[in-house]
Amino acid sequence: MRSIHLSSLNDFAEWRAAARGLLLEAMAPEDVVWVEPNGAGDLFGAEESPVLVTGRKVGTVPEKFLELGEAAICHSDPERFALLYRLLWRLMKDRTLLQARSDPDVGRLDRLVSAVRRDAHKMTAFVRFKSIVDDSGLERFAAWFEPEHYVLERVTPFFVRRFTGMMWAIITPYRSAYWNGETVEFGPGGEKADVPAEDAMEPVWRSYFASIFNPARLKVAMMKSEMPVKYWRNLPEAELIPSLIRGAREAEEAMIERQASIPPSRHLRKMERLAPAVSGEEIGTVDAARQAIDGCKRCALYENATQPVFGEGPETAEVMFVGEQPGDQEDLAGKPFVGPAGQVFDAALRLVGIERERVYVTNAVKHFKFVPRGRKRLHQRPNAGEVQACKFWLGLEREFIKPELVVAMGAMAVSSLMGSRVTLGLARSKLTVLADGARIFATVHPSYLLRIPDRQLAAAEQERFEDDLREVKRLMEEMK
Ligand code: URA
Repeated sequence: MRSIHLSSLNDFAEWRAAARGLLLEAMAPEDVVWVEPNGAGDLFGAEESPVLVTGRKVGTVPEKFLELGEAAICHSDPERFALLYRLLWRLMKDRTLLQARSDPDVGRLDRLVSAVRRDAHKMTAFVRFKSIVDDSGLERFAAWFEPEHYVLERVTPFFVRRFTGMMWAIITPYRSAYWNGETVEFGPGGEKADVPAEDAMEPVWRSYFASIFNPARLKVAMMKSEMPVKYWRNLPEAELIPSLIRGAREAEEAMIERQASIPPSRHLRKMERLAPAVSGEEIGTVDAARQAIDGCKRCALYENATQPVFGEGPETAEVMFVGEQPGDQEDLAGKPFVGPAGQVFDAALRLVGIERERVYVTNAVKHFKFVPRGRKRLHQRPNAGEVQACKFWLGLEREFIKPELVVAMGAMAVSSLMGSRVTLGLARSKLTVLADGARIFATVHPSYLLRIPDRQLAAAEQERFEDDLREVKRLMEEMK
């Protein structure tokens, strides 16, 4: 039995170095006890070991594992280190393990990663800075926040981008981040009392909140327990909520009415006004684009959606699949194609032998568009202006991933990629080479298959979709 004492709660590099050392010694997962900093220690009197750092190669792991591991290690589950090592151990024997979604370890990894991503997103939404002016008149800002997981380091780049010109500190119980306008430093955690209770920023937050208050979003957030009361305590504007809720019904009706009645041209004008200061040239990588889209106001869809859903997959992917827009589940998970349409898509990919982990999957529109109906959020089709506004992000994804083949799924993806005059009927099941050299293959959207009431027709259309994916697979083989 070996016990590994980690010095950090969420440092993937440290865990990885230790895990590499354990693999070199062929230590089986059941013989290793992982101890967090300040952890109670292991109960079995195991031999203690410092973290081993070694340059020797022990084999390679799929990039996906590294990406998921970096997120999962930020979860507060004390079992996370052991889970990651067990997965790593098993990956050494079976590189396809992560595709086995029914595997309990893989499922648990997915749940940890989703929880961390949700928590990080909440943090970007609920941190509130207080102003502190010192005797010389210098103003700094500080915020107290209690994340559920160890996500401060993951979200700090977001705050650096958003509040570059301010000097600020974010204090959490486990760690603090400081930004002096040029560099970030991390220090020990703190307490709520470290941050002043009253400040000059509160009226600003209050009026900002009142102006953006969206009853539909609040309802959804409360239903899904995404806005725990715990966070409200830190929000000066939370006091406003009861009075705002009183007017909620009228506001909701007015909002739906407004959305339905704004013609696309007005949407376009609004988008131009709201477009973020950031231009494509300032975004140099797909990760930078993934971060930058958090502040996207290119169309009004960001107002109601929980978060933007950016594409997912390796940067080296040769094939990019483009769907239409995230659905209810994708909006909550922040990942494309994880709901019912995603299941149809995954099953068809598996059937034809395309590994989802090796392709890049994204959507023409990155925010979920819906109308609230009781407890449900009904999907609404984005209009031409919204598709046009989101081409900016799809364009960046295509520029950075440089896929050799793009698969457009559904009419919206076809018109976004090939122009509004090209219909799905015209482009379906064919490889089209555009003037700029882009190779586009078009097929139906997987959710279309879920909506066909007639059983026989549904089975025939399912087969046609699978045949299309077989053709994609063949094109992929040609590229090798
Ligand atoms: N439909 C899409 O087009 N994309 C998703 O991510 C989910 C459903």
